[in-house]
Amino acid sequence: MSNARVCFVIPTYNEALNIKSLLQRLTELYPDPDTAFLVVDDESPDGTGNLARKFAAAEEGRRVYLLEAPRDGLGKACARGIAYALDVLGADVVVQMDADFSHDPADAAKLLEHLADGADVAIGSRYVPGGAIDNRWNPWRRLLSRWGNRFARFVAGLNGVRDCTAGFKAVKATALRAAQIEHIWTRGHAFQVAQLHRLLHAGALIREEPIYFRDRERGRTKLGMASVVEFFYAIWWLRMVNNQIFIKYMLTGLSGALINLGAFHLMLEQGLHKFIASPIAIELSIITNFLINNYWTFADRVVIGNKRIRGLKFNFISLLTLALSFSTFIVLSSLFPQVSLVLLQACGIIPVALLNYFLNSYWTFSEANPTQPQPLEEGSS
Ligand code: GDD
Ligand code: MN
Repeated sequence: MSNARVCFVIPTYNEALNIKSLLQRLTELYPDPDTAFLVVDDESPDGTGNLARKFAAAEEGRRVYLLEAPRDGLGKACARGIAYALDVLGADVVVQMDADFSHDPADAAKLLEHLADGADVAIGSRYVPGGAIDNRWNPWRRLLSRWGNRFARFVAGLNGVRDCTAGFKAVKATALRAAQIEHIWTRGHAFQVAQLHRLLHAGALIREEPIYFRDRERGRTKLGMASVVEFFYAIWWLRMVNNQIFIKYMLTGLSGALINLGAFHLMLEQGLHKFIASPIAIELSIITNFLINNYWTFADRVVIGNKRIRGLKFNFISLLTLALSFSTFIVLSSLFPQVSLVLLQACGIIPVALLNYFLNSYWTFSEANPTQPQPLEEGSS
């Protein structure tokens, strides 16, 4: 890796208080003339772009670049920056990092070492032993980050990676090209997970380096509600793209939902009380779901336990999800009496369907011999 062309990709939005000192520090730490620094600014109103431009003009090595576009989210900025680094600047390695000093510029050297040692991706990780998050992060951010991570790892199937949402990583150009990251559609913070997912599926060798994630001293975070909501859906989307069983399960669930809503509608028309029609419709769809899942969705999976146990488990989960779905319906129908009953019934079904998938996939129909996730610890090759 000694004469690799390294390009730092630094997304910025309103980082006027940080950008100059960051570029200063980076150019000092990495004096190699073959190392470039690309600021990807979304026309920050605070003038971040101009500051980067000025710095670039004054920097003797002419190694600092600025890419500007209207605001389109952190994920889109990363994608744009990476494409530019690969196609225009001819990078062999891309280092992505934040501009707010949460990622210590000195740590990038450790990430690059992992690539020199043969890894395709090195993640600056908060969730491996030795890694940590600033105490100043408020409990809500901590919770969001930790559970967002667990959720992403579990749902999107990012086995073995501890910090799936990290924004600090060094990646070889070969791995980025193989992963075809230009197909990523998420705009916000979910980009990190979508990128990791593609890299993993393209067979990239991933290593994690513990880092201390310092809270920003200057400026404000841009993590907004839109990004959080997109994150939730994006992770499920990732799950769907690569998991045939999940697609079948969701199709089955969809058929179940149609049966549920159809039966519910018919029973209401027959004059049945809503609180009787609702659970009957749910139970009916659970039965059809089970039959289809058993003979179609999981037909090819080598599952553990005998059929009777499986039947019991499925029944248990059915009752649990029935209770959840029904209680959601009760709560919603008393809160929003003016809203269509069929719509409220649907609100109870969707989240419960996802939960149902997990319980059944990992418990009822759990694999006899699941493929082991690749160990990522040092010296495991
Ligand atoms: N160009 C551009 N456009 N840059 C953006 C945008 C945007 O819409 N939104 C944020 N950025 C830049 C910020 O200026 C900063 O340099 C970097 O992206 C990270 O943004 P923050 O707003 O500081 O994100 P964070 O600290 O909440 O999130 C960090 O941790 C997350 C995991 O907890 C980032 O590293 C995320 O990538 C990571 O997922
Ligand atoms: Mn930050």
